[in-house]
Amino acid sequence: LKCISLFYPCLSKNLAFVPALPPDHHSFHHGAVVDRCKGIEFDAVAVNELGVPYFFKGDHLFKGFHGEAELSNATFAELDDHHHLGHVDAAFRMHSEDSPEHHDHQFFFLDDKVFSYYKHKLEDGYPKEISDMFPGIPDHLDAAVECPKPDCPNDTVIFFKDDDIYHFDIKTKKVDEKEFKGMPNCTGAFRYMGHYYCLHGHQFSKFDPITGDVHGRYPKEIRDYFMRCSHFGKKSVEEHIEREKCSRVHLDAITQEDDGDIYAFRGHHFLSVSGDKFHSDTIESAFKELHSEVDAVFSYEGHLYMIKDSEVFVYKVGEPHTHLEGYPKPLKEVLGIEGPLDAAFVCADHHIVHIIKGQTIYDVDLKATPRVAGNERPLTKFKKVDTAMCGPKGVTIVIGSHYYQFQSPMEMIASKAIPEQHNVAQELFGCDH
Ligand SMILES: *[C@@H]1O[C@H](CO)[C@@H](O)[C@H](O)[C@H]1NC(C)=O
Repeated sequence: LKCISLFYPCLSKNLAFVPALPPDHHSFHHGAVVDRCKGIEFDAVAVNELGVPYFFKGDHLFKGFHGEAELSNATFAELDDHHHLGHVDAAFRMHSEDSPEHHDHQFFFLDDKVFSYYKHKLEDGYPKEISDMFPGIPDHLDAAVECPKPDCPNDTVIFFKDDDIYHFDIKTKKVDEKEFKGMPNCTGAFRYMGHYYCLHGHQFSKFDPITGDVHGRYPKEIRDYFMRCSHFGKKSVEEHIEREKCSRVHLDAITQEDDGDIYAFRGHHFLSVSGDKFHSDTIESAFKELHSEVDAVFSYEGHLYMIKDSEVFVYKVGEPHTHLEGYPKPLKEVLGIEGPLDAAFVCADHHIVHIIKGQTIYDVDLKATPRVAGNERPLTKFKKVDTAMCGPKGVTIVIGSHYYQFQSPMEMIASKAIPEQHNVAQELFGCDH
């Protein structure tokens, strides 16, 4: 599904379009707040109980790495009651298996108050005074982030105010003041996939939660790694490659050739991986007819079949890739199915394309005419697949910034369990941070 413009925002690749909002819709009043691709300094960030990061700015909230601004009080109504919500100062997701009454709750800090939510519902007894619940921690915080065992020696919350850092031990309530030398003052902080990020301005730095040390080339631009934004600023080839390898934003499509080469598509860009060589460019430059934002891509007999809405584009793989005469053709004609599709893949030496559409998988025999999408089976293990590919290692299912591997399409359909979760940026593309 494509996110054509601000007025057709894509909340989730495979959900329906959000109805068009007229430009005078409420959320467009705060121009600077609405477009997170304009370079926002966020007030606070915390992941929810499912691991989806919520980014707060003013009285608005962005859920996940793409999608439009929402009013925070539409999800967290009580943030408004006690305090006409100007903004959230700080937020974190509690991680403490030793205190099940708080575990996985989202905590929000506003002035001198703390709110605890679980699945968007305010817990009884909240808001509380920060000084009661977190004695020794100041009001008017800048940022907060959880640091569970074993990242920190005990389950801890790290609070930030100006350049003061407090490590709060959840069990003993002991406060350790720290100095994080060489770290910028954070306006927001969050833990994502085991890493710690401090947001400052429209940039972020990854830090060590115990020492505050920042290793590697930081700060980096939030929009490159945590937002789905098309173009801003000039970048070198290396910067494009790094962004596409390391972005946490979901992929639109991925495919693997029989020789193991991978093509991955995200928004306006693609990344190709051949052995240890990476290449990245705009879709426009290498697949001109497609422009951007594909739904699904599969490799078959030296060609890339690229599906966008209800059309199929076919490119012969080469330098450059060449679009076949007579394409695009209707998806219904080429694969016997209506779009939009979520994923499509062919395993080596086969001529069956497996198509995932919602929670259903279909097979299409590419040697048959006319093409028919048959052998329909439910795929209920996953709520929503972003993309999938089949290669020498079997089937790879990609959802958000994670992927899952199965030996074969058959095993994927038959198995009851969801296999081990892997990290797209680091394990699939070798991002080093
Ligand atoms: C961080 O906060 C301290 C204390 O308010 C201030 O003196 C310092 O200039 C700030 N640093 C930056 C880089 O803004």
